[in-house]
Amino acid sequence: MWNEVQETVKYLQDKGFDKPDYGIILGTGLGNLVEKIEIEIAIPYAEIPNFPISTVTGHSGELIFGKIGSKNVIAMRGRFHYYEGWKMDQVVFPVRVMKYLGVNNLIVSNASGGVNPSYKVGEIMIISDHINMMPDHPLHGKNDERFGPRFVDMHEAYSKKMIAKMENIANELNISVHKGIYLALQGPTFETPAEYKMVKILGADAVGMSTVPEVIIGKHMGMECFGISVITDLGVEGKVEAVSHEEVQLVAKKSEKVVGKLVEEFIKQ
Ligand code: HPA
Repeated sequence: MWNEVQETVKYLQDKGFDKPDYGIILGTGLGNLVEKIEIEIAIPYAEIPNFPISTVTGHSGELIFGKIGSKNVIAMRGRFHYYEGWKMDQVVFPVRVMKYLGVNNLIVSNASGGVNPSYKVGEIMIISDHINMMPDHPLHGKNDERFGPRFVDMHEAYSKKMIAKMENIANELNISVHKGIYLALQGPTFETPAEYKMVKILGADAVGMSTVPEVIIGKHMGMECFGISVITDLGVEGKVEAVSHEEVQLVAKKSEKVVGKLVEEFIKQ
């Protein structure tokens, strides 16, 4: 993958993606966080060499370069999910590219189902740690030492410093946030009540279908990672109700202004 990454990096540098400080991955329903970015360049994924090409309608995305305050950011509007059929290498390809463009801080957002009984729909959870229950691993196979080590330390997958900073900002802005553990399953089915119960027993607060591969690769390449999740539905025993993708998008959309404010202030400070 090394050569492909370098080729894509060169292409983006030639287009003006110049030394981004932060990489941001915008999750389901959170795409409009880009409103916080003074966009300088936006390139559809289909035009970027070596980027996976989505054939699923509504999942076409673009890579954005611009500014939040004085900081250069690169943002993915739309991510590649494992359940769409992408290989893990493809899911994490953009993160590798971000690193070689100069990104050392990765911010990842997503929508998730809350299994912690104190959580409510529409609330926000800062990810303190994760449990990887996906059936494949982005580092499965031969390791390329140029990217990072064979065995990756994950004792602080989510930067304590960034979490503390975000908690301060949430406090300042009077926004209440939870802090909890995200468990990743492959999807695309939402969980059965028994599965939500399993997720809780395993020690997680929320469950989703993304984020973990990207953070693993961020850590492989020595990035500081931060994750934020909108609780779009509840998988709490006795209260599990029908959930649809439309509902998930709707709730995420409602909360995106708040997430946007938090991320904007975080980067500015
Ligand atoms: N489960 C898995 N993924 C999700 C959920 C959920 O309940 N909500 C949003 N993404």
